[in-house]
Amino acid sequence: MTMHFNAPHRYHPPFNFRNSRQAIERFPFPFTEDSYLYSVNIEPAQAGQPGTIHEHWFDIDEHYQAEMAERARVLAADPTRCLVMPHMQEAAWDTLQLLMEHLAEDYPQWFSLNRDGKRWHWRNQALGIEQHFTFGDAGSLPCPPLEYIGRQVQGDFALLDQRDNDLYMDAGLVTCPADWSLAFDAGMSFKQWHAPVPMAHQMGIFDRALKYLLNVQVGHPVRRLNWTLTINPRLDSSPETYHQWGADRGTVTADNAGRLVHLRVELQHMSRLARSHAMLFSIRTYLISLDELATQPGWGCRLHRVLRDLPDAIADYKGMTRYRQALVQWLSQFDPLA
Ligand code: HEM
Repeated sequence: MTMHFNAPHRYHPPFNFRNSRQAIERFPFPFTEDSYLYSVNIEPAQAGQPGTIHEHWFDIDEHYQAEMAERARVLAADPTRCLVMPHMQEAAWDTLQLLMEHLAEDYPQWFSLNRDGKRWHWRNQALGIEQHFTFGDAGSLPCPPLEYIGRQVQGDFALLDQRDNDLYMDAGLVTCPADWSLAFDAGMSFKQWHAPVPMAHQMGIFDRALKYLLNVQVGHPVRRLNWTLTINPRLDSSPETYHQWGADRGTVTADNAGRLVHLRVELQHMSRLARSHAMLFSIRTYLISLDELATQPGWGCRLHRVLRDLPDAIADYKGMTRYRQALVQWLSQFDPLA
């Protein structure tokens, strides 16, 4: 059978489709109340409205080429950011298939996939890539399948093996984590890799979340938002590069917080993979400076209240203890009741 996801042959200048105002309006502001506590905030990942980050399963935006160049730089400096245990090979091919199918369907102006049995033809016009390969034969690609497709899709990817009623982090490609390490977590179970998170274990959140995830079915993915703060618009805030960014936390003042501090929101998407029955956990990270965020009505005020009242244990876990006071002071200008 030959399947065609046709791309037009004319060249489209990639990703100049949004101005900065539209990009700010599209930002996934995660707070629905003036306070925040951990919860089992998982929902079905329905296709969303056009123009929102939920429009497609895997969001490609105007940072595509810059983020792919950054991924290449991080991988060149540290190849351990990509890891696939031998029993996860099938899951890696499942991932390549899922991502290629969705990109070709959702962004036909940039990506196309033609299939003739196991002979596949992939084109990525945004990066100038054209590849004929045999599905399932790693030798027919320039690098292993998870790395190959991961170099062409924004966001990080963890592949979880499901066995013994648990999930195990047995593969992944992680170059922009919020202060965690794939090499460190490799082989860990769901509760083991979540061990450093305060309060949530006692609240029963990880018991309920795991139970939910074990039952996710093919074609019915789920998603959730997570957030933290990052100093400067730095995607790779991993323990491996802590020496490059850790000290930045000491530079925040009540004067420069709007420019230096960025809200970092992760859109996490969890899909069941068809053949391997593994789970694909994709983490798409969005960054916005607080100066930009505060241009949206109500966002500065809400963030002020959330960060002012956040339990110390969560603030500490998210790494904001050193600059929290200065930041809350800066944010108070947006709160009429402060
Ligand atoms: C299988 C999919 C998932 C993976 C691979 C994953 C992975 C991670 C990792 C690596 C961390 C950082 C832990 C550290 O500090 O070292 C984390 C944090 C966390 N995870 Fe998950 N997670 C998954 C699903 C979930 C789900 C479904 C929930 C639902 C409640 C959840 C809730 C949390 C929370 C609350 C944190 C702390 C985040 C923060 O305060 O910034 N995770 N997760």
